[in-house]
Amino acid sequence: MRTHYCGQLRAEHIGQTVTLFGWVDRQRDQGGVVFVDLRDRSGITQIVSDLGRTPDSFPTAEQLGNEDVVRIVGRVTQRPADSYNPRIQTGEVEVYADEIELLSEAQPLPFQVSVAESATVREEARLKYRYLDLRRERMSRNLKLRHQVIKAVRRYLEDTEGFIEVETPMLTRSTPEGARDFLVPSRVNPGEFFALPQSPQLFKQLLMVSGLDRYYQVARCFRDEDLRADRQPEFTQLDLEMSFLSLDEILDLNEGLICHIFQHIKGIELPRPFPRLTYAEAISRYGCDKPDTRYGLELVDVSDLMADSGFKVFSGAVASGGIVKVLPLPNGNDAISNVRIKPGGDLFREAAEMGAKGLAYVRVRDDGEIDTIGAIKDNLSAAQKQELLNRTGAKPGHLLLFGAGDAPTVNKTLDRLRQVTAREFNLIDPEKINLLWIVEFPMFEWNADEQRLEALHHPFTAPFPEDAQDLKTARAQAYDIVFNGFEIGGGSLRIYQPDLQAQVFQTIGLSDDEALNKFGFLLEAFQYGTPPHGGIAYGLDRLVMLLAGEESIRDVIAFPKTQQARCQLTNAPSEVDAKQLKELHIGLVQKPKV
Ligand code: AMO
Repeated sequence: MRTHYCGQLRAEHIGQTVTLFGWVDRQRDQGGVVFVDLRDRSGITQIVSDLGRTPDSFPTAEQLGNEDVVRIVGRVTQRPADSYNPRIQTGEVEVYADEIELLSEAQPLPFQVSVAESATVREEARLKYRYLDLRRERMSRNLKLRHQVIKAVRRYLEDTEGFIEVETPMLTRSTPEGARDFLVPSRVNPGEFFALPQSPQLFKQLLMVSGLDRYYQVARCFRDEDLRADRQPEFTQLDLEMSFLSLDEILDLNEGLICHIFQHIKGIELPRPFPRLTYAEAISRYGCDKPDTRYGLELVDVSDLMADSGFKVFSGAVASGGIVKVLPLPNGNDAISNVRIKPGGDLFREAAEMGAKGLAYVRVRDDGEIDTIGAIKDNLSAAQKQELLNRTGAKPGHLLLFGAGDAPTVNKTLDRLRQVTAREFNLIDPEKINLLWIVEFPMFEWNADEQRLEALHHPFTAPFPEDAQDLKTARAQAYDIVFNGFEIGGGSLRIYQPDLQAQVFQTIGLSDDEALNKFGFLLEAFQYGTPPHGGIAYGLDRLVMLLAGEESIRDVIAFPKTQQARCQLTNAPSEVDAKQLKELHIGLVQKPKV
């Protein structure tokens, strides 16, 4: 029987005989005395064996290799004062091993997992041997943190706020969250498919119709979309839905939840209420709807000023319905050379990746005058130059980077440049925690590929009542929560009137038949007494990633997929037997590449 975890032993246990189980983190043979760092999930304890004091265990101790699994019975002893190890919590004691039983021998490892090992391991190997990677300190710490966050969430939602957890189906119809579905063929219904849920959206709304009042779920979601550091095809939402609450009440309740998490996990009291920024203001000041507000570098719109300038790139952009904006960079003159801004330069490349065709710039000289390549300077009047300086607050040493063209491209470009330069100039304080709400999103955005409006959040989001007359331009009662530049959650008040819901379907180009076919069950449910309701879903992986100080959600998911959407460990997805395909009534038009 185990008496203690390795990491639990302290001076108070001195004199006790203990039984420990664990992995050999490291074995050192120092001339007749063997030291073993024994590790389990709680930490490390030093085990000692020598011929004089522990003759029975010594032969086994000598043979132990890294990552062997052992059972040890021994006496907890005070370490000699000169060999205390302040880096580990058990550093004051060691265990004299009277018995060592080798339970499982480890073969040579593909990489070292010891806590003493700091070498970086290629991610491919980490994912292939994930079970070894999870033994390492960083990953085991991250998994524990994830567990602590979920535990804190459950306590708060259930015990303080009266939420009930309900599981919703994994085999379902497609829910329209904007990504491609993962489909599951039905064997018993030939030619028909389930979709794995992109979110529990429709079911949680139905639970409100059921009168559940406050629902939550730690819900697995599936989206077949291009992967990035903060996106996985399979991810976890903390999903909430509430009845009879106003938008302000919902945001307030969620601030309580977030504050509880920070208090529990980090011991930090966050100031409340969290700041709110309208979508329009966020786009105007930062060029994006998830701004990192830990630093300034706000954008300045100068479209009106440049509309009648002689510089054709600017005036032409405004004339064709576009905009001209500036990213003012204090002391940018010293840090950023012309070469970096011109074609072939790194900043130019960043801008081009976002769709910009060029990157105009202006430098402010030591005497406060504008110094620039001819085209801009020669085509701005003295008054325009002065106004440019006034609006951007530019001082000697400032570099002004311009974006000109259609609004989405300009905003995307300057947002990217703002982030890149903030990092370069060390403007980001890693200790800072900025949480903010983005509110008043537009209901719809134009999908140029499909030549139709589509819901910015999803089509169940309610418009502001005062905007409902003209749905196309209406603001949505939707909100996102942004944490240091990451969208960690989003939600909305929902439509609960069948006729308004039908109008929204019409606006996004769903015919009555299509709407009925896809969402008839929801429209029907709304006819039988529906409470006003709203909710939110957090990207739990993203939240934990940020709390853990990691840069990828792969580092807070036990068994994630690679960037190529594969499981490196099991080698999924994989071919299946012809017999299985036949049963599922599926014929392949393309053989898998092996
Ligand atoms: P939304 O689509 O905004 O809203 O998703 C909510 C949150 O989930 C996270 N997220 C992801 N995390 C990892 N990998 C992904 N592929 C991924 N996609 C999204 C983000 C995001 O903020 N049903 C609505 C919520 C609601 O209205 O209540 C929804 O799913 O952090």
